[in-house]
Amino acid sequence: MEKFIVHAGGKLSGTVKISGAKNAALPILAAALLTKEKCIIQNVPPLTDVEHMLELLEGFGAKISFDRNKEEVEIEALELVIPEEPYELARSMRASFLVAGSLLGRLGVAKLSLPGGCQIGTRPVDLHLKGFRVMGVKDKMEYGVVDLVAKRLKGGIVYLDFPSVGATENIMMAAVLAKGKTKIENAAAEPEIIDLANFLRGCGAKISGDGTGTIYIEGVEGLHGCSHQVIPDRIEAGTFMVGAAMTDGDVVLEGVEEEHLKPVIAKLLECNVKTEKVANGLRVYRKGKLLPMQLKTMPYPGFPTDMQAQFMSLMSITKGSSLVTETMFENRFLHAGEMQRMGADIRIESRNAFVEGCDHITGSQVVATDLRGGAALILLALAAQGETEIGEIHHIERGYYHIEEKLKKLGVDIEKIQM
Ligand code: UD1
Repeated sequence: MEKFIVHAGGKLSGTVKISGAKNAALPILAAALLTKEKCIIQNVPPLTDVEHMLELLEGFGAKISFDRNKEEVEIEALELVIPEEPYELARSMRASFLVAGSLLGRLGVAKLSLPGGCQIGTRPVDLHLKGFRVMGVKDKMEYGVVDLVAKRLKGGIVYLDFPSVGATENIMMAAVLAKGKTKIENAAAEPEIIDLANFLRGCGAKISGDGTGTIYIEGVEGLHGCSHQVIPDRIEAGTFMVGAAMTDGDVVLEGVEEEHLKPVIAKLLECNVKTEKVANGLRVYRKGKLLPMQLKTMPYPGFPTDMQAQFMSLMSITKGSSLVTETMFENRFLHAGEMQRMGADIRIESRNAFVEGCDHITGSQVVATDLRGGAALILLALAAQGETEIGEIHHIERGYYHIEEKLKKLGVDIEKIQM
């Protein structure tokens, strides 16, 4: 079992290269099943979630080679098979359900384990299934396995009760090879949706409106292969930005898309943290004392739920009263308990977390409860007195590529140790 040992002290300073976005890479890899031809996907971070997705795709018959140094995946799905038994892997990773849309598009059938319950909330797939039904898909659920069959996949008007990222992606993938036109209303507008649309367009799909609440797709006969470069990870970038803010550091993020970070930049500005474009990227630095704030997580372009925990760390060391309202997931405050162990003053009431900034955060033994919550503990450790030991770091490594190496380069005293 591995742990991170973090000693606080220094200010984050220097340059950090931001990796490709996990949440863009996963659906794009799944979408590569839609064509028989070879696709080349660049800027793919070699994270555990990505490795699991590739393993899953191989199970469906895709030929894959992953050059981890170049961060480039070649994937060719000439023949696909539907295994009798759905993979265990599928149950462990929610994003695995993203193959449903591409299997339906390509074969008209899919048999998948339902994604298991997740720490941060129940995370159902009802919206995915509702969309598929409009497109002529019959679904049957038994023993945690969902069987999807479409005699003839057809376009239709899908209204999402909530702009779910995964449901929007799955329906887009099914629709590109469906007969006729599909309109997705109340669609998610996240940058990762646009990246998936760009990949699909590169393969010959007809899509417009991505990045807005209404997406139009016209089914085509077939798709061809293409090369695509995954967008930078706005959540990884945001995490380093908060690190710079908390330590009064000065960091340049290389390879970020400033536009995607708008909601995070706006909140940082409210608490006296500035950003400016420089020759090699985006510079982040503090201008004066940190200020308390209120934030509410919302679908894009609102404040991302995936940055909520990191901001809670920032609030914990910011003098005054701050408030976080989590609207996206019902149970996404697990990290607060671990932060309290480090002396943070946080009171949870339903979907609200009231945070009183304090100046006596102390290093302790804590565990990562989930991916972003784990990253937030590293950030809090940067401002703690003494040593912090963070366990269960496999959660963090699902979504942050070589986080300890990147932090070390910025001057942080962090070690990964085997226990
Ligand atoms: C994606 C991201 C995740 C991020 C989330 C919200 C990936 C791989 N993961 O997850 O990091 O936190 O978007 O920005 O891209 N819901 C339903 N029924 C459904 C689908 C969703 O009720 O069929 C609910 C969920 O339980 C949740 C909310 O909708 O409360 C948002 O979920 P969704 O946008 O689907 O998130 P994911 O695509 O799973």
